[in-house]
Amino acid sequence: TQGLGALAAACGIVFGTTLTRGQVEESPEMRRIVEADAGMVVPGLELKWAGHRPSPEGFDFRDADVMVRFAEEQRKALRGHALVWHEALPPWFAGAPTDAAGMRALLERHIRTVAGRYAGRMHSWDVVNEPVEPWYRRPDGLRDTPFLRALGPGYIDLAFRLAHEADPAARLVLNEYGLEMPTEDNAARRAAVLALLRGMRARGVPVHALGIQAHLSAANARSFDPSVLRNFIRDVAALGLEVYVTELDVTDRGLPPEIPARDAAVARCYRAFLDAVLAETAVRVVVVWGISDRYTWMNDSPNARREDGLPVRAHPYDQDFRPKPAWHAMADAFRAA
Ligand code: G3I
Repeated sequence: TQGLGALAAACGIVFGTTLTRGQVEESPEMRRIVEADAGMVVPGLELKWAGHRPSPEGFDFRDADVMVRFAEEQRKALRGHALVWHEALPPWFAGAPTDAAGMRALLERHIRTVAGRYAGRMHSWDVVNEPVEPWYRRPDGLRDTPFLRALGPGYIDLAFRLAHEADPAARLVLNEYGLEMPTEDNAARRAAVLALLRGMRARGVPVHALGIQAHLSAANARSFDPSVLRNFIRDVAALGLEVYVTELDVTDRGLPPEIPARDAAVARCYRAFLDAVLAETAVRVVVVWGISDRYTWMNDSPNARREDGLPVRAHPYDQDFRPKPAWHAMADAFRAA
């Protein structure tokens, strides 16, 4: 049988998963699954500041290099995640410069060093992750972060220009969450993201794609709305941009404990979501944020873990690396697209 990567490739989509050095080294099953199913890997921790910036002066690329080597040996495409994010920062960042010149120097050195190191080898980079957050009630919808406070909204353009200089071949992505629900909050985030991207395009900023994270919930009928989502993707495409689904997963939080029903609901959600996005030609990449329930971020997350304490069954393979209905739902969606 064909893997998900091959099925996706047949409809013009690059399919991949996030992965960490720990998983690669600990689990032959994960290596086998990635080999069989993924056309792309996304290091889950190793390219975040917390993953390679042990000190203000220093870079430590040992973990990242293991991941890059693994991807290249397996002939998988690589996505970098992420050059600028207000989370997963090392402890010393709390004392980072707060003035414009100091923060600019810090960002310049970071992006030149990191994107430069892997130049020509990255399919794409998440240049800025989660920059929009309507909750802050700024007119531009931007999130209040140390980068914004020091540099103003221009930090986003700056980061993209630096990344493009350092790695002209990489597709540069603005990655965001909370874009798929038919809620007021998500509508505000969609509007702010569109305005931001429109401005970037007008200013000639090198941005090539929007990343839609897509952390979904099978118990929530409003977890995503196909027509809202497709209209939004078209609005993004109208700006001349591609769309990547960058962190797809489907929590079973809120569903009763019986496994067959949970697995069926999760599978239905994957299928419906993929049916919607694969109908849009702007969508070029689908990455799952975890391929086996053995390694999931969700059991540690207050918002994603199950309230009854059972481990989530949110990913295409179960804890023992057996394909679940979710795997077959994804395969069917790629076959039908
Ligand atoms: O590996 C250490 C372990 O040795 C230590 O004992 C333990 C104690 O906290 O921490 C472990 O590291 C954790 C790591 O995940 C591996 O489990 C980090 O603390 C924890 O911060 C890290 O969380 C990651 C998070 O991003 C922050 O980097 C999640 O795995 C990862 O799935 C999550 O991914 C994010 C995307 O980058 C952006 N979008 C949302 C998505 C989910 O939150």
